[in-house]
Amino acid sequence: MDIQIKDLIDRLADGHSLSIDEWIRLIEEKYDTTYLYEKAVAVREKYYGKEVFIRGLIEISNYCKNNCTYCGIRRDNNAVDRYRLTDDLILECVDNGYDLGFRTFVLQGGEDLSFDTNRVEALVKTIKSKYSDCAVTLSLGEKDYDDYLRWFEAGADRYLLRHETADCDHYAKLHPKEMDFYNRMRCLQDLMKIGYQVGCGFMVGSPYQTTECLAKDMQFIQNFNPHMIGIGPFISHKDTPFSEFENGTLEMTLKMIALLRLTCRKALIPATTALGTVAPDGRERGLMVGANVVMPNLSPTNVRDKYSLYDNKICTGEEAAECVNCLKRRVESVGYKIVVSRGDSKVNG
Ligand code: 5AD
Ligand code: FES
Repeated sequence: MDIQIKDLIDRLADGHSLSIDEWIRLIEEKYDTTYLYEKAVAVREKYYGKEVFIRGLIEISNYCKNNCTYCGIRRDNNAVDRYRLTDDLILECVDNGYDLGFRTFVLQGGEDLSFDTNRVEALVKTIKSKYSDCAVTLSLGEKDYDDYLRWFEAGADRYLLRHETADCDHYAKLHPKEMDFYNRMRCLQDLMKIGYQVGCGFMVGSPYQTTECLAKDMQFIQNFNPHMIGIGPFISHKDTPFSEFENGTLEMTLKMIALLRLTCRKALIPATTALGTVAPDGRERGLMVGANVVMPNLSPTNVRDKYSLYDNKICTGEEAAECVNCLKRRVESVGYKIVVSRGDSKVNG
Protein backbone atom coordinates (compact mmCIF):
# COMPACT_ATOMS: atom_id res chain seq x y z
CA MET A 1 0.00 0.00 0.00
CA ASP A 2 0.96 3.66 -0.36
CA ILE A 3 3.77 4.37 2.09
CA GLN A 4 2.32 7.77 2.99
CA ILE A 5 -1.07 6.30 3.87
CA LYS A 6 0.61 3.64 5.97
CA ASP A 7 2.60 6.34 7.74
CA LEU A 8 -0.58 8.31 8.50
CA ILE A 9 -2.25 5.20 9.94
CA ASP A 10 0.82 4.48 12.07
CA ARG A 11 0.98 8.05 13.36
CA LEU A 12 -2.70 7.96 14.26
CA ALA A 13 -2.26 4.63 16.03
CA ASP A 14 0.63 6.16 18.00
CA GLY A 15 -1.66 8.88 19.35
CA HIS A 16 -0.61 11.77 17.13
CA SER A 17 -3.04 14.39 15.84
CA LEU A 18 -3.43 14.80 12.11
CA SER A 19 -4.00 17.99 10.14
CA ILE A 20 -7.25 18.49 8.25
CA ASP A 21 -5.48 17.73 4.97
CA GLU A 22 -4.02 14.52 6.38
CA TRP A 23 -7.43 13.45 7.59
CA ILE A 24 -8.93 14.21 4.22
CA ARG A 25 -6.37 11.95 2.53
CA LEU A 26 -6.98 9.13 4.96
CA ILE A 27 -10.75 9.34 4.58
CA GLU A 28 -11.09 10.09 0.89
CA GLU A 29 -8.32 8.19 -0.84
CA LYS A 30 -9.01 4.70 -2.15
CA TYR A 31 -6.56 2.20 -0.67
CA ASP A 32 -6.49 -1.36 0.52
CA THR A 33 -8.01 -1.17 4.00
CA THR A 34 -6.52 -4.48 5.23
CA TYR A 35 -3.74 -2.78 7.19
CA LEU A 36 -6.11 -0.21 8.73
CA TYR A 37 -8.60 -2.88 9.79
CA GLU A 38 -5.93 -5.14 11.26
CA LYS A 39 -4.57 -2.31 13.36
CA ALA A 40 -8.05 -1.29 14.53
CA VAL A 41 -8.90 -4.85 15.56
CA ALA A 42 -5.59 -5.21 17.42
CA VAL A 43 -6.36 -2.05 19.44
CA ARG A 44 -9.91 -3.16 20.15
CA GLU A 45 -8.74 -6.58 21.35
CA LYS A 46 -5.92 -5.12 23.42
CA TYR A 47 -8.42 -3.27 25.62
CA TYR A 48 -11.61 -5.29 25.31
CA GLY A 49 -10.50 -8.74 24.16
CA LYS A 50 -13.24 -10.66 22.38
CA GLU A 51 -16.00 -9.20 24.54
CA VAL A 52 -19.01 -7.42 23.09
CA PHE A 53 -21.22 -5.35 25.40
CA ILE A 54 -24.97 -5.18 24.92
CA ARG A 55 -27.22 -2.22 25.74
CA GLY A 56 -30.97 -2.58 26.04
CA LEU A 57 -32.49 0.22 24.02
CA ILE A 58 -35.90 1.45 25.15
CA GLU A 59 -37.47 3.99 22.81
CA ILE A 60 -39.64 5.81 25.31
CA SER A 61 -41.35 8.33 23.02
CA ASN A 62 -41.46 9.34 19.38
CA TYR A 63 -42.90 12.77 20.10
CA CYS A 64 -40.33 15.44 19.33
CA LYS A 65 -40.33 19.21 19.49
CA ASN A 66 -37.45 19.36 17.02
CA ASN A 67 -37.51 19.30 13.29
CA CYS A 68 -34.16 17.85 12.28
CA THR A 69 -34.35 17.64 8.51
CA TYR A 70 -32.99 14.08 8.21
CA CYS A 71 -35.10 12.54 10.95
CA GLY A 72 -38.23 10.48 10.39
CA ILE A 73 -39.88 11.48 13.67
CA ARG A 74 -39.33 15.21 13.18
CA ARG A 75 -42.12 17.48 14.39
CA ASP A 76 -43.50 18.27 10.95
CA ASN A 77 -43.91 14.67 9.89
CA ASN A 78 -47.65 14.23 10.25
CA ALA A 79 -47.53 10.66 8.98
CA VAL A 80 -45.96 9.42 12.24
CA ASP A 81 -48.18 7.47 14.59
CA ARG A 82 -47.03 9.09 17.84
CA TYR A 83 -46.68 7.18 21.11
CA ARG A 84 -45.16 7.59 24.52
CA LEU A 85 -44.57 4.70 26.90
CA THR A 86 -45.96 4.84 30.43
CA ASP A 87 -43.52 4.57 33.31
CA ASP A 88 -44.90 1.11 34.06
CA LEU A 89 -44.26 -0.06 30.53
CA ILE A 90 -40.71 1.29 30.62
CA LEU A 91 -40.06 -0.55 33.89
CA GLU A 92 -41.51 -3.71 32.39
CA CYS A 93 -39.02 -3.44 29.51
CA VAL A 94 -36.22 -3.06 32.05
CA ASP A 95 -37.36 -6.14 34.03
CA ASN A 96 -37.57 -8.14 30.85
CA GLY A 97 -34.13 -6.90 29.76
CA TYR A 98 -32.56 -7.74 33.09
CA ASP A 99 -33.75 -11.33 32.79
CA LEU A 100 -32.26 -11.48 29.30
CA GLY A 101 -28.83 -10.47 30.64
CA PHE A 102 -28.80 -6.70 30.07
CA ARG A 103 -26.91 -4.59 32.61
CA THR A 104 -27.23 -1.30 30.75
CA PHE A 105 -30.51 0.33 29.80
CA VAL A 106 -30.69 3.19 27.34
CA LEU A 107 -33.74 5.41 27.60
CA GLN A 108 -33.93 7.14 24.25
CA GLY A 109 -36.58 9.41 22.86
CA GLY A 110 -37.43 12.47 20.86
CA GLU A 111 -37.43 15.74 22.78
CA ASP A 112 -40.81 15.12 24.35
CA LEU A 113 -41.74 17.71 26.97
CA SER A 114 -43.97 15.25 28.79
CA PHE A 115 -40.77 13.49 29.88
CA ASP A 116 -39.87 16.46 32.05
CA THR A 117 -37.01 16.72 34.53
CA ASN A 118 -38.97 15.31 37.46
CA ARG A 119 -40.39 12.38 35.57
CA VAL A 120 -37.04 11.27 34.17
CA GLU A 121 -35.40 11.81 37.55
CA ALA A 122 -37.96 9.53 39.20
CA LEU A 123 -37.57 6.89 36.48
CA VAL A 124 -33.80 6.84 36.87
CA LYS A 125 -34.09 6.53 40.65
CA THR A 126 -36.55 3.66 40.35
CA ILE A 127 -34.39 1.72 37.92
CA LYS A 128 -31.19 2.31 39.87
CA SER A 129 -32.72 1.33 43.20
CA LYS A 130 -34.14 -1.88 41.81
CA TYR A 131 -31.06 -2.77 39.77
CA SER A 132 -28.03 -1.29 41.47
CA ASP A 133 -25.75 -3.46 39.33
CA CYS A 134 -26.97 -1.77 36.14
CA ALA A 135 -25.98 1.37 34.29
CA VAL A 136 -28.60 3.80 33.03
CA THR A 137 -27.89 5.71 29.85
CA LEU A 138 -30.05 8.63 28.80
CA SER A 139 -30.47 9.85 25.24
CA LEU A 140 -33.08 12.58 25.46
CA GLY A 141 -31.54 15.45 23.57
CA GLU A 142 -30.52 18.97 24.49
CA LYS A 143 -31.27 20.13 28.04
CA ASP A 144 -30.00 22.71 30.50
CA TYR A 145 -27.04 22.08 32.76
CA ASP A 146 -29.32 21.79 35.79
CA ASP A 147 -31.49 19.09 34.18
CA TYR A 148 -28.43 17.04 33.27
CA LEU A 149 -27.13 17.51 36.79
CA ARG A 150 -30.39 16.39 38.43
CA TRP A 151 -30.46 13.22 36.32
CA PHE A 152 -26.84 12.50 37.09
CA GLU A 153 -27.46 12.93 40.81
CA ALA A 154 -30.45 10.61 40.49
CA GLY A 155 -28.02 7.95 39.29
CA ALA A 156 -27.82 8.22 35.50
CA ASP A 157 -24.39 7.01 34.41
CA ARG A 158 -24.13 7.87 30.75
CA TYR A 159 -25.56 10.23 28.14
CA LEU A 160 -25.69 9.88 24.38
CA LEU A 161 -25.97 13.02 22.29
CA ARG A 162 -24.58 12.78 18.80
CA HIS A 163 -23.01 16.06 17.72
CA GLU A 164 -24.24 15.13 14.17
CA THR A 165 -21.47 17.15 12.48
CA ALA A 166 -18.55 19.19 13.79
CA ASP A 167 -18.86 21.69 10.94
CA CYS A 168 -21.05 24.64 11.91
CA ASP A 169 -22.18 25.39 8.33
CA HIS A 170 -22.97 21.74 7.69
CA TYR A 171 -24.94 21.64 10.96
CA ALA A 172 -27.08 24.51 9.65
CA LYS A 173 -27.87 22.52 6.49
CA LEU A 174 -29.10 19.53 8.50
CA HIS A 175 -31.18 21.44 11.03
CA PRO A 176 -33.79 24.18 11.08
CA LYS A 177 -32.77 27.70 12.06
CA GLU A 178 -33.90 27.37 15.65
CA MET A 179 -31.35 24.65 16.32
CA ASP A 180 -27.94 25.89 17.25
CA PHE A 181 -24.63 24.10 16.75
CA TYR A 182 -23.09 25.91 19.71
CA ASN A 183 -25.87 24.83 22.05
CA ARG A 184 -25.29 21.21 21.09
CA MET A 185 -21.58 21.61 21.77
CA ARG A 186 -22.43 23.31 25.07
CA CYS A 187 -24.55 20.32 26.03
CA LEU A 188 -21.69 17.91 25.34
CA GLN A 189 -19.27 19.99 27.41
CA ASP A 190 -21.79 20.22 30.28
CA LEU A 191 -22.32 16.46 30.29
CA MET A 192 -18.60 15.83 30.44
CA LYS A 193 -18.13 18.39 33.21
CA ILE A 194 -20.91 16.85 35.31
CA GLY A 195 -19.19 13.48 35.15
CA TYR A 196 -21.28 11.41 32.78
CA GLN A 197 -19.72 8.88 30.46
CA VAL A 198 -20.52 10.78 27.29
CA GLY A 199 -21.24 9.60 23.76
CA CYS A 200 -21.14 11.78 20.66
CA GLY A 201 -21.31 10.78 17.01
CA PHE A 202 -22.37 11.56 13.49
CA MET A 203 -23.96 10.12 10.37
CA VAL A 204 -21.78 8.98 7.49
CA GLY A 205 -22.90 10.27 4.11
CA SER A 206 -25.45 12.76 5.38
CA PRO A 207 -26.70 15.33 2.87
CA TYR A 208 -24.14 18.06 2.06
CA GLN A 209 -21.41 16.28 4.02
CA THR A 210 -17.95 16.78 2.51
CA THR A 211 -14.78 14.92 3.35
CA GLU A 212 -13.71 18.04 5.19
CA CYS A 213 -16.77 17.73 7.44
CA LEU A 214 -15.70 14.18 8.32
CA ALA A 215 -12.14 15.38 8.92
CA LYS A 216 -13.52 17.96 11.36
CA ASP A 217 -15.59 15.25 13.07
CA MET A 218 -12.41 13.26 13.62
CA GLN A 219 -10.49 16.24 14.97
CA PHE A 220 -13.36 17.20 17.26
CA ILE A 221 -13.65 13.65 18.58
CA GLN A 222 -9.91 13.36 19.18
CA ASN A 223 -9.99 16.53 21.29
CA PHE A 224 -13.23 15.75 23.09
CA ASN A 225 -12.13 12.20 23.92
CA PRO A 226 -15.64 10.80 24.49
CA HIS A 227 -16.33 7.52 26.27
CA MET A 228 -18.65 6.38 23.48
CA ILE A 229 -18.96 7.14 19.78
CA GLY A 230 -22.03 6.21 17.76
CA ILE A 231 -21.89 6.43 14.00
CA GLY A 232 -23.98 4.95 11.23
CA PRO A 233 -24.79 5.63 7.61
CA PHE A 234 -27.36 8.29 6.80
CA ILE A 235 -30.50 6.53 5.51
CA SER A 236 -33.16 8.62 3.83
CA HIS A 237 -36.68 8.66 5.22
CA LYS A 238 -39.50 9.00 2.72
CA ASP A 239 -41.45 11.61 4.70
CA THR A 240 -38.60 14.07 5.25
CA PRO A 241 -37.22 16.86 3.04
CA PHE A 242 -34.14 14.64 2.51
CA SER A 243 -36.14 11.77 1.01
CA GLU A 244 -34.32 12.02 -2.33
CA PHE A 245 -30.77 11.95 -0.96
CA GLU A 246 -28.49 8.94 -1.34
CA ASN A 247 -27.79 6.76 1.67
CA GLY A 248 -24.37 6.61 3.26
CA THR A 249 -22.41 3.47 2.40
CA LEU A 250 -21.36 0.43 4.36
CA GLU A 251 -17.77 0.79 3.15
CA MET A 252 -17.33 4.40 4.25
CA THR A 253 -18.94 3.70 7.62
CA LEU A 254 -16.59 0.75 8.22
CA LYS A 255 -13.58 2.87 7.34
CA MET A 256 -14.72 5.57 9.78
CA ILE A 257 -15.27 3.00 12.56
CA ALA A 258 -11.71 1.72 12.13
CA LEU A 259 -10.29 5.26 12.10
CA LEU A 260 -12.30 6.06 15.24
CA ARG A 261 -10.91 2.98 16.99
CA LEU A 262 -7.36 4.19 16.30
CA THR A 263 -8.23 7.74 17.36
CA CYS A 264 -10.04 6.84 20.60
CA ARG A 265 -8.46 3.56 21.52
CA LYS A 266 -10.57 2.75 24.59
CA ALA A 267 -13.90 4.14 23.43
CA LEU A 268 -17.08 2.11 23.28
CA ILE A 269 -18.17 2.00 19.65
CA PRO A 270 -21.46 0.35 18.70
CA ALA A 271 -22.14 -1.54 15.51
CA THR A 272 -25.37 0.39 14.98
CA THR A 273 -28.80 -0.58 13.76
CA ALA A 274 -28.36 1.81 10.81
CA LEU A 275 -25.26 -0.17 9.78
CA GLY A 276 -27.32 -3.37 9.96
CA THR A 277 -29.98 -1.69 7.83
CA VAL A 278 -27.73 -0.80 4.86
CA ALA A 279 -26.30 -4.34 4.71
CA PRO A 280 -27.60 -7.62 6.13
CA ASP A 281 -24.23 -8.33 7.76
CA GLY A 282 -23.50 -4.67 8.54
CA ARG A 283 -23.27 -5.05 12.30
CA GLU A 284 -20.99 -8.10 12.07
CA ARG A 285 -18.77 -6.20 9.67
CA GLY A 286 -18.67 -3.31 12.15
CA LEU A 287 -17.49 -5.67 14.90
CA MET A 288 -14.79 -6.96 12.54
CA VAL A 289 -13.23 -3.48 12.12
CA GLY A 290 -13.20 -2.22 15.71
CA ALA A 291 -16.74 -1.84 17.08
CA ASN A 292 -17.40 -3.49 20.46
CA VAL A 293 -21.04 -2.78 21.41
CA VAL A 294 -24.47 -3.75 20.09
CA MET A 295 -27.73 -2.17 21.15
CA PRO A 296 -30.72 -4.45 20.64
CA ASN A 297 -34.19 -3.09 20.98
CA LEU A 298 -36.16 -3.75 24.18
CA SER A 299 -39.10 -1.52 23.27
CA PRO A 300 -42.54 -3.17 23.27
CA THR A 301 -43.16 -4.84 19.89
CA ASN A 302 -46.28 -2.81 19.16
CA VAL A 303 -44.34 0.49 19.06
CA ARG A 304 -41.17 -0.72 17.34
CA ASP A 305 -42.07 0.33 13.82
CA LYS A 306 -43.25 3.74 15.03
CA TYR A 307 -39.77 4.80 16.12
CA SER A 308 -38.76 5.15 12.53
CA LEU A 309 -35.85 7.57 12.17
CA TYR A 310 -35.13 6.22 8.67
CA ASP A 311 -36.69 3.79 6.17
CA ASN A 312 -36.41 -0.02 6.40
CA LYS A 313 -35.09 -0.05 9.97
CA ILE A 314 -34.37 -3.64 11.02
CA CYS A 315 -35.68 -5.57 14.05
CA THR A 316 -39.05 -3.81 14.15
CA GLY A 317 -41.10 -6.99 14.51
CA GLU A 318 -38.90 -8.96 16.84
CA GLU A 319 -39.54 -9.65 20.52
CA ALA A 320 -36.58 -8.64 22.69
CA ALA A 321 -35.69 -12.24 23.44
CA GLU A 322 -35.56 -13.12 19.73
CA CYS A 323 -33.43 -10.04 19.08
CA VAL A 324 -30.92 -11.10 21.71
CA ASN A 325 -30.66 -14.66 20.45
CA CYS A 326 -30.24 -13.49 16.89
CA LEU A 327 -27.52 -11.05 17.95
CA LYS A 328 -25.73 -13.67 20.04
CA ARG A 329 -25.48 -15.89 16.98
CA ARG A 330 -24.33 -13.01 14.80
CA VAL A 331 -21.68 -11.89 17.27
CA GLU A 332 -20.38 -15.43 17.70
CA SER A 333 -20.25 -15.95 13.93
CA VAL A 334 -17.40 -13.40 13.76
CA GLY A 335 -15.49 -14.74 16.76
CA TYR A 336 -16.75 -12.45 19.52
CA LYS A 337 -18.83 -13.06 22.62
CA ILE A 338 -21.66 -11.13 24.29
CA VAL A 339 -21.08 -10.69 28.02
CA VAL A 340 -23.41 -9.98 30.93
CA SER A 341 -21.82 -6.79 32.23
CA ARG A 342 -22.39 -3.06 32.63
CA GLY A 343 -19.60 -2.68 30.09
CA ASP A 344 -18.16 0.59 31.32
CA SER A 345 -15.79 2.55 29.16
CA LYS A 346 -12.09 2.31 29.91
CA VAL A 347 -11.55 5.92 28.81
CA ASN A 348 -9.88 7.76 31.74
CA GLY A 349 -9.73 4.42 33.51
N1 5AD B 1 -30.39 8.09 9.02
C1 5AD B 1 -29.44 7.66 9.87
N2 5AD B 1 -29.35 8.05 11.15
C2 5AD B 1 -30.28 8.92 11.59
N3 5AD B 1 -30.45 9.50 12.78
C3 5AD B 1 -31.54 10.29 12.72
N4 5AD B 1 -32.08 10.23 11.50
C4 5AD B 1 -31.32 9.40 10.77
C5 5AD B 1 -31.34 8.96 9.43
N5 5AD B 1 -32.27 9.38 8.56
C6 5AD B 1 -29.50 9.35 13.88
C7 5AD B 1 -29.03 10.71 14.37
C8 5AD B 1 -29.52 10.75 15.79
C9 5AD B 1 -29.63 9.29 16.14
C10 5AD B 1 -30.55 8.98 17.28
O1 5AD B 1 -30.09 8.69 14.96
O2 5AD B 1 -27.60 10.77 14.32
O3 5AD B 1 -28.66 11.42 16.67
FE1 FES C 1 -36.23 14.87 17.33
FE2 FES C 1 -35.47 13.30 15.39
S1 FES C 1 -36.10 15.41 15.22
S2 FES C 1 -35.67 12.78 17.48
